[in-house]
Amino acid sequence: MSLNVLVTGATGFIGRALVADLLRGGASVIALSRDARAARALLGPRVRVVGSLQEVADDEAIDACVHLAGARVLGPPWTAGRRRLLLESRARIAGDLMALLRRLRQRPRVLVGASAIGWYGRSPDAANPPCDESHSPQPGQFQSDLCVAIEQALRPAQALGVRVVALRFGIVLGADGGAYPPQARAARFGLASVLGSGRQPVPWVHIQDAVGLARFAIDHEALAGPVNAVAPQAPTQAEFARALAASFGRGVWLRMPAAPLRLALGEMADLLLEGRPVVPAAAREQGYAFRFPGLEAALADLARRH
Ligand SMILES: NC(=O)c1ccc[n+]([C@@H]2O[C@H](COP(=O)([O-])OP(=O)(O)OC[C@H]3O[C@@H](n4cnc5c(N)ncnc54)[C@H](OP(=O)(O)O)[C@@H]3O)[C@@H](O)[C@H]2O)c1
Repeated sequence: MSLNVLVTGATGFIGRALVADLLRGGASVIALSRDARAARALLGPRVRVVGSLQEVADDEAIDACVHLAGARVLGPPWTAGRRRLLLESRARIAGDLMALLRRLRQRPRVLVGASAIGWYGRSPDAANPPCDESHSPQPGQFQSDLCVAIEQALRPAQALGVRVVALRFGIVLGADGGAYPPQARAARFGLASVLGSGRQPVPWVHIQDAVGLARFAIDHEALAGPVNAVAPQAPTQAEFARALAASFGRGVWLRMPAAPLRLALGEMADLLLEGRPVVPAAAREQGYAFRFPGLEAALADLARRH
């Protein structure tokens, strides 16, 4: 029987790829968007777009919800207002989702939400040990507090009998959005650079595996709780920059010191200058097979599409 999936953030980088994959697999998709008209134009006639979850009827048979919506984390510096927006944009929609789950006559089997490896925060000892899903958050660090809030907002669904999976995404690499295209443009012109010490780990995941893991979370009844959505091996930032440059036949000659980045970006510079090694323990344990486990093959694939 074909799936009926409700997706928030369907117009975003990961959402568009997920929706395309769901449609290819014969699923029906309901997309929530703040701009229903633009979303219809973007996603096409096969997707039913709603501007509010109140438009979903009580007797709609939804099999799975995927919550990807939220203001962009890597953007303008994290002023108090931006921090509020990052938290509230996600929590408000999660709250609306809970209200929907409560009133649906037949509840979805699963709610998959987007969290991030920011859960694990930064650590003075970036080298060891790699973080599996059991590692604690780092209270007081904004990226960690944000992920804790995101995952907390998903939790009430459990009490309603819905399986909840929080995908802790690393940097999602894809040709059509996210962090890759601007970095690839720079690398192509020989402008890839080492950031700070270059020793910070860069947990990444190819967009096909980001979507693959979301599909795995929907389909795989045994998967619940946090799931690290990262490739099995995280390079250091310097290794990542070298591999990216090499995918365009270039080298890395530039180094951006940490101080000006910190001055310009404040705490948000943590996203570029700090990192912890993260391993996809839960996905591996449940038998997920990565399409792109290695960075070189992932970057070669993306360079072809860029
Ligand atoms: N991409 C990554 O590398 C990465 C890494 C870690 C975690 N994540 C998380 O995964 C999720 C999806 O990522 P993505 O890269 O696909 O995000 P994205 O491209 O920025 O898309 C997010 C979607 O959320 C909606 N949105 C944007 N601002 C909003 C606001 N202020 N209030 C409510 N909705 C808003 C938009 O949909 P409408 O305009 O249609 O409403 C947008 O299409 C996000 O929560 C992100 O934080 C992504």
